[in-house]
Amino acid sequence: MKHSGLLLIVTFIALLFSACNIEKESDYKMIKENFGEIDGKEVVLITLKNTNGNTVKITNYGATVVWIEVPDRLGNIENVTFGYETLDGYLNGDPYFGSIVGRYANRIAKGKFEIDGVEYNLAINNGVNTLHGGPGGWHSVVWDYEVIDKKGDIPVLKFTYNSPDMEEGYPGNMIAEVEYIWNDKNELHINYNCSTDKKTVLNITNHAYFNLKGAGNGDILDHEMQIMASKFTPVDQDLIPTGDNIVVEGTPFDFREPHKVGERIEEEYEQLILGKGYDHNFVLDNDKEVDAIVYEETSGRLMEMMTDQPGVQFYCGNFLDGTQTGHGSRAYNYRGGLCLETQHYPDSPNQANFPSWSLANPLSPVRFIGSL
Ligand code: GLA
Repeated sequence: MKHSGLLLIVTFIALLFSACNIEKESDYKMIKENFGEIDGKEVVLITLKNTNGNTVKITNYGATVVWIEVPDRLGNIENVTFGYETLDGYLNGDPYFGSIVGRYANRIAKGKFEIDGVEYNLAINNGVNTLHGGPGGWHSVVWDYEVIDKKGDIPVLKFTYNSPDMEEGYPGNMIAEVEYIWNDKNELHINYNCSTDKKTVLNITNHAYFNLKGAGNGDILDHEMQIMASKFTPVDQDLIPTGDNIVVEGTPFDFREPHKVGERIEEEYEQLILGKGYDHNFVLDNDKEVDAIVYEETSGRLMEMMTDQPGVQFYCGNFLDGTQTGHGSRAYNYRGGLCLETQHYPDSPNQANFPSWSLANPLSPVRFIGSL
């Protein structure tokens, strides 16, 4: 099968988009442009162009991936991720297109958790719950940025954000760092590194939406999906985990072998109805090199995802309704994109049986890899 591909590695998450017969350009390029201003801070758009000539664009607003272009099997280039042409799009009801999500990705029930007997109350933004760090989460702040360009290496685009103690209700001053590397194999690496001065919780992800036919080009129901996960965590009607793990075998959640996203999405299965489609945390087996593969037949584009995190939220754009328009004025419609949000399980601070993601070593820097 001839395909072209993309690899996403998140903290490592890597997205690999491989490509066919690409003429090599000689130089890796990085171009910076103004993208606006918020509270006196400049917002920039940085284009990374690898030696294949394929570009990724990232802004320091939310450390957000705005654009990823990769070839199809004939070499035709398309942007495969949702994004806006201007900063305004990100300020007006953006459903986290490409953003970094923190401090706590996904839901925390009733916006509350306890550490050492102290209850913390978070900003609420999803019914009675907190979603993706709260309304003022890391997707909505302007990050500092620098380019680390060591001779002979692919440059690293590094974002830093100093999140103050009790921001959105989370304890501890936290320094968050996100590094993006777009290399000549069409791999996008995302590395996270956070440190804090108090016991706290953390779950950081990237919320990119993908459509391998091209962003805004139909739905993703025809995309073939493979997720190396033998279990998933079921949820209640508010998408809060019940605390169980369900074996995927014999359910529409079994993606251990490739299935089209749309093949079983309308099946009468309580979990699908609750999630309005796939919108669930898959418990990764974490025993293979690649954790998920997405393939789209007409373009031949293939994306591989690798992570060291224990879960991935497979969300297939069930809440999109076409009101958001992005690059080339294309509307992002219902189920027009899919997300692979690598993460710790949702609501972990309140779920004793889930892997912990509390940062429990005050004053010592904690690298964001593996579970603590
Ligand atoms: C996550 C959630 C979804 C939805 C989207 C944003 O992926 O799991 O339920 O809230 O973010 O629209």
